[in-house]
Amino acid sequence: MLKKTGSNKYSLIEKNACFLSKIAPEIPYFLKHKILFVCLGNICRSPLAEAVFNRLAGERGISNRFYADSCGTAGHHAGQPPDPRTLKNARKNKLEIVHLGRQLHPDDFATASLILTMDSDNYRNTRSLALKNGYDTAAISMLRRFDPAAVKDDLDVPDPWYGGEEGFEEVFQIISRSCSGLVDALEASYPGLP
Ligand code: 4NP
Repeated sequence: MLKKTGSNKYSLIEKNACFLSKIAPEIPYFLKHKILFVCLGNICRSPLAEAVFNRLAGERGISNRFYADSCGTAGHHAGQPPDPRTLKNARKNKLEIVHLGRQLHPDDFATASLILTMDSDNYRNTRSLALKNGYDTAAISMLRRFDPAAVKDDLDVPDPWYGGEEGFEEVFQIISRSCSGLVDALEASYPGLP
């Protein structure tokens, strides 16, 4: 849950989530931390990031505390399944994606603990929607901040929409590295998340 601007307090539900997860690892679904991945159309990069993170969270034993969701800053592909090239790449990497496109909504700021965007355009647009709706933006960042191979000035996951299938594999590799770094960071910082 992102804080409302001007508030230094965590909500009661957030405090309970932290407390309960210590004493009861199998905390209820609704008290898990949601990581929300955001791209433009929500049919290529962010649904892949959602599936990669959820698989990794299961493998690394943190899926009782964290889960991923995804959306797009634009609504053109709302209600649509992922791009066929995304699904083909996911199958190749033995990954199942169960997701329909949806647009980022102000309610997302109230339900997500951490929002990670795929590129700097998504980052700017997500931050501005948060600010417009009175939310603090400290928990909005970019996924590639967690990519150990990222070059400092370029934190974009490239948009594969206009390219060929090789672009989707590159995106898969970037997202996999980044999600691995993200899980390391979550393990190190929990429960001190924003
Ligand atoms: P995504 O990719 O943001 O990774 O889902 C795109 C999907 C659709 C479009 C652009 C990028 N489009 O222009 O429709």
